[in-house]
Amino acid sequence: MLEIAPSILSADFTRLGAEIESIVRGGAEIVHVDVMDGHFVPNITVGLPVVKAVARATQLVIDAHLMIEEPGRYATQFVDAGAGMVSVHVEVDRNLHRTLLAIQERGARAGIAINPATPLAALEEALQFADFVLLMSVNPGFGGQKFISSSIDKLRRLREMIDSRRLKTRIEIDGGIDSTNIAEIVNAGAEIIVAGSAIFGTSDPAQGVRALRDASVQWV
Ligand code: DX5
Ligand code: ZN
Repeated sequence: MLEIAPSILSADFTRLGAEIESIVRGGAEIVHVDVMDGHFVPNITVGLPVVKAVARATQLVIDAHLMIEEPGRYATQFVDAGAGMVSVHVEVDRNLHRTLLAIQERGARAGIAINPATPLAALEEALQFADFVLLMSVNPGFGGQKFISSSIDKLRRLREMIDSRRLKTRIEIDGGIDSTNIAEIVNAGAEIIVAGSAIFGTSDPAQGVRALRDASVQWV
């Protein structure tokens, strides 16, 4: 089943509660929160207090995408704050297996996030311990960037890697997704679609979610 995960990075933070109500109306399943530390990525965004506030505002599953160094130090705090999904980047976690298990033991789904230039081979050993992989289709740090087209081929290869091992690992994809490319992305094997500007960059985020879902089943 396809799940849409609007990223609040592009939302109006002065009225975050209303923005979240709007994506609920549009039928979103997940709310994606981009946590950036200014070290792993060249931008600083939000952290635990915002995740706690989002958790008070909605029943949607909160998906905390940690673009931070030493994610193992903070991952379980995000579960305690209300995240039902937490992803950490393979590029920065020297104890990935430990972090994934800690997230799961705390009661959330654990994901491995991977940057565009990081080979899928980096997932070889850890894939079996993850509930999902977050495939980045832009370089992390900012909303509104252009989808890197080679991500489609990478996505197909990841799908093949998961299926050939008979794993249940889900594939989430993040960056530059809109109604023009979502169908091809879904056909290539993605199951959870993150979108920021395509949803909150429009005047009606509820309609933005619906438009993406409609476009996902269009013939390509
Ligand atoms: C980028 C973030 C994304 C971002 C996506 O570093 O991980 O979640 O918000 O934004 P769009 O959909 O605008 O590319
Ligand atoms: Zn993200």
